[in-house]
Amino acid sequence: MHENTKTRILITGANGQLGREFRELERAHPAFRFTFTGREELDVTQEAAIRQYFAAHAFDYCINCAAYTAVDRAESEPEAARLVNVDAVRWLAEACARQGIPLIHYSTDYVYHNQQNTPFREEDPTTPQSVYARTKLAGEQAAREAHPQTLILRTSWVYSSFGNNFVKTMLRLGCEREELKVVFDQVGTPTYARGLARATLDIIRKVEAGEVGRDKLQGIYHYSDEGVCSWYDFALAIFELAGIKCKVAPIETKDFPTAAARPPYSVLNKAKVRAVFGVKTGHWREALREMLAGLNPKQ
Ligand SMILES: NC(=O)c1ccc[n+]([C@@H]2O[C@H](COP(=O)([O-])OP(=O)(O)OC[C@H]3O[C@@H](n4cnc5c(N)ncnc54)[C@H](OP(=O)(O)O)[C@@H]3O)[C@@H](O)[C@H]2O)c1
Repeated sequence: MHENTKTRILITGANGQLGREFRELERAHPAFRFTFTGREELDVTQEAAIRQYFAAHAFDYCINCAAYTAVDRAESEPEAARLVNVDAVRWLAEACARQGIPLIHYSTDYVYHNQQNTPFREEDPTTPQSVYARTKLAGEQAAREAHPQTLILRTSWVYSSFGNNFVKTMLRLGCEREELKVVFDQVGTPTYARGLARATLDIIRKVEAGEVGRDKLQGIYHYSDEGVCSWYDFALAIFELAGIKCKVAPIETKDFPTAAARPPYSVLNKAKVRAVFGVKTGHWREALREMLAGLNPKQ
């Protein structure tokens, strides 16, 4: 495919879990020309740097993978979390608005934190109860105010073979210890970051092909893998599929205190993203199997 006809996609925060998964998918998407920027190439907390970068380069889409994701640390660093999760997102949205391109941005299941025990829909009330969740919600709002053509994908329990996450922690601890205690009263759905990256590119492909209207690239959508589990069930599945013989004991959240409160139930209803964009979602165990099969021991 000729370089000039390719869809130009800027990925910011490209060295995190999700950003690295986009890099992995680059070869499988020859119709897209990716530009990957980590903190060194584009620090999204520098408004002037964003302005300069967008003035010097032209893109068709911006996918923002940059975020402050240290959920517990955010409780003692609210300003740092706010800078990346709110201010930077607004500045990126403003830059996308000036360039007339859509912004695709990610948010979290933690914006839902109440006693509901049926899968959350996009229009359900948000009640964030941690600094991280509040900044993510404020970031959604800031981006949508600055640029109507902002698509927000709220996702949950993200893991990847890259970076730090629950799966990699379990794989490490499972080999070091005979037994682990894991909470069984927080229920949600794991999401393999590669699937999330694939779904994002599938949405862009369909818009570019005219299969879905460009006007649909706005508003809030849920995306996670399918199914439901507790962190305890997730740990059991990781050990079973990885062949690790480590016992897992279920414990309650009150016996595993953390700085930031986590929602007891944060399963997302994905009907909207399936209906509007035809995005396919698979069961979390199958996604976990795929991740473990491709795991490089050095990662
Ligand atoms: N992880 C989850 O369980 C989860 C759950 C729900 C939603 N999400 C959302 O999903 C999205 C992707 O998350 P992820 O798991 O891929 O996060 P991640 O692995 O923590 O990656 C975030 C990336 O953002 C980069 N970053 C931070 N500040 C930056 C700056 N000033 N300029 C440029 N880059 C910067 C980080 O770089 P450094 O490493 O240098 O700081 C890191 O590479 C985020 O919006 C997150 O809130 C994640």
